[in-house]
Amino acid sequence: MYGMVNKALQEMVFAAHGEKVWDQIKERAGVDVEIFLSNEAYPDAITYQLVGAASEVLQAPVSDLLEAFGVHWVLKLAVPGYGHLMQAAGSNLKDFLVYLPNFHARISLIFPNLNPPRFLCSDVTDNSMTLSYYSDRRGLSSFVVGLLKGLARHFQTAVTIEQTQVFGADSDHDRFSISWP
Ligand code: HEM
Repeated sequence: MYGMVNKALQEMVFAAHGEKVWDQIKERAGVDVEIFLSNEAYPDAITYQLVGAASEVLQAPVSDLLEAFGVHWVLKLAVPGYGHLMQAAGSNLKDFLVYLPNFHARISLIFPNLNPPRFLCSDVTDNSMTLSYYSDRRGLSSFVVGLLKGLARHFQTAVTIEQTQVFGADSDHDRFSISWP
């Protein structure tokens, strides 16, 4: 994944726990990178190792960390750093989510080696929809939940998210039922 992912993780841990704790996490992860370059691609394994080590050092479940990271990604990285892309994608939660399947195509223009997630919206009503999430990567459904919660906070919309399908033997994707007032 592009270095911006690891960098954002570092910033989230820095803000909450400081530099020493981040150094501990890197050491436990066996990751010897001083500065992550946003525009450079790093092996996915580095990100997974950092998240796993953070879970051990902070004694928090991986799912909790990934969810918090999703919120952080939207509110601390996407909105302040890519405001124009966020605004172009929609001015409310529903419009943004309907646009989401196309969103990373825009991002691919900036990051040509992106291996983005794929989203599909269905059963769209004025206050609900089904969102299907496809990825070549495993174990990131809590990240998606956090991203959705971050978007809901950004658009100041109360949201209910329920995972109705889980990737596994019976399904090639995760599926979420999302509703708002
Ligand atoms: C301007 C905002 C955003 C940028 C710049 C961005 C960029 C990226 C980048 C660089 C990656 C790593 C993939 C790679 O390097 O191959 C990624 C992954 C991902 N992004 Fe975004 N993203 C943005 C917003 C969003 C939003 C709003 C969602 C909403 C749900 C989202 C969902 C995901 C997911 C789930 C992944 C994990 C990869 C996977 O599932 O395979 N992103 N994104």
